[in-house]
Amino acid sequence: MPPPEHHNIYTRLLRPLMFRLDPETAHRWTLAALSLTPSPRRPRHSPDPVELATTVFGLTFANPIGLAAGMDKDARAVRAWNALGFGFVELGTVTPRPQPGNAPPRMWRLAEHRALINRLGFPGNGMDAAAQRLVSIRKDRLPIRLVLNFGPNKDTPPDRVAEDYAALTRRLAQFADAIVVNLSSPNTPGLREFQAPERMRAIVEAIRTALSSTQPATLPDAANAIPTAAPRQPPLLVKIAPDLDSAQLSAVCAAAIGLVDGIVATNTTLKREEVGVNATFEGGLSGSPLLARSREVIAQVYRETHGRTPIIGVGGIASAEDAYGHIRAGASLVELYTGMIYRGPSLAREIKRGLVRLLARDGFRSISEAVGSASRS
Ligand code: FNR
Repeated sequence: MPPPEHHNIYTRLLRPLMFRLDPETAHRWTLAALSLTPSPRRPRHSPDPVELATTVFGLTFANPIGLAAGMDKDARAVRAWNALGFGFVELGTVTPRPQPGNAPPRMWRLAEHRALINRLGFPGNGMDAAAQRLVSIRKDRLPIRLVLNFGPNKDTPPDRVAEDYAALTRRLAQFADAIVVNLSSPNTPGLREFQAPERMRAIVEAIRTALSSTQPATLPDAANAIPTAAPRQPPLLVKIAPDLDSAQLSAVCAAAIGLVDGIVATNTTLKREEVGVNATFEGGLSGSPLLARSREVIAQVYRETHGRTPIIGVGGIASAEDAYGHIRAGASLVELYTGMIYRGPSLAREIKRGLVRLLARDGFRSISEAVGSASRS
């Protein structure tokens, strides 16, 4: 069971109302409301404390807290994520063509566990719709970093999956501060098989080839909204599952070194009993029960990549302590999704305040000093 809860206005007033709706309706209404957030008047201003600023794979982040993939699949509410204090958002999973996803019901709350189960299967409007929105968002020059998460269409045969990733890259790389290759959703049949080193390498090579034939963004209002090095190719990360066993994970780490710029760990889990949940809905489990397993994966990846392949840690974060634990295990950046459903829209701010306190308590002057400090012997 998760730790006892501290209440706030959201948990007392708004959450009981939201939880009367089925989870997908609540999600749709929330996104519709957040998508109305106007462009900020002082877009470049970042009010974050300096000790939270961090540079990872050559990119500066105003703070290390991100919104995980799946919440905003079609880039509808980026201005809201910026206003809520996130340092970055992972948009997607975007697929090349629009698709409806799996038949409902396909998302469930497990409130007693502060968890969700979903088998959405990448519903979305496809890459052209995402590109249209991203053109407009990039004009705002927001401080929030935009990470784009790519996946194949459900009806793409396995031998054409690399082409889907290449097509996404050609269309969307110009808008991306970084790209995540999603190889770990449990809801697209066969996708996780692409975590096998040879298959992963083939996908990454297809994307790199597409990147080298794509002009890096040079327009002032396109990518690189806050000062970075010269226009450049976006870093490439792979997102992995928490259900790989230790040997499989070692093989992924060995293959990832030198191949990719970073690893996102982890996606949702298909496990139930092992994480203390007995729900039988079919799909990926996220939220508090995933915290410990995600942290183990982060720690193993950190050790086996010798701390040199940056990790975005995700899974079960619902407090500053949770985020700090993932950072100390080896994550250079962290992200969350389910925690915000249970704790509300002030969570990123709350975590940032707590992180400043935790860094000071332990004598770290910056996030980067704390990264991996629990995994180094
Ligand atoms: C997700 N997640 C996800 N991940 C991804 O790479 N592409 C996606 O489209 C989605 N979609 C999605 C939908 C829903 C409803 C949930 C709850 C999650 C996984 C997500 O990004 C994250 O890896 C896990 O949810 C673990 O983090 P949290 O939710 O425990 O903070």
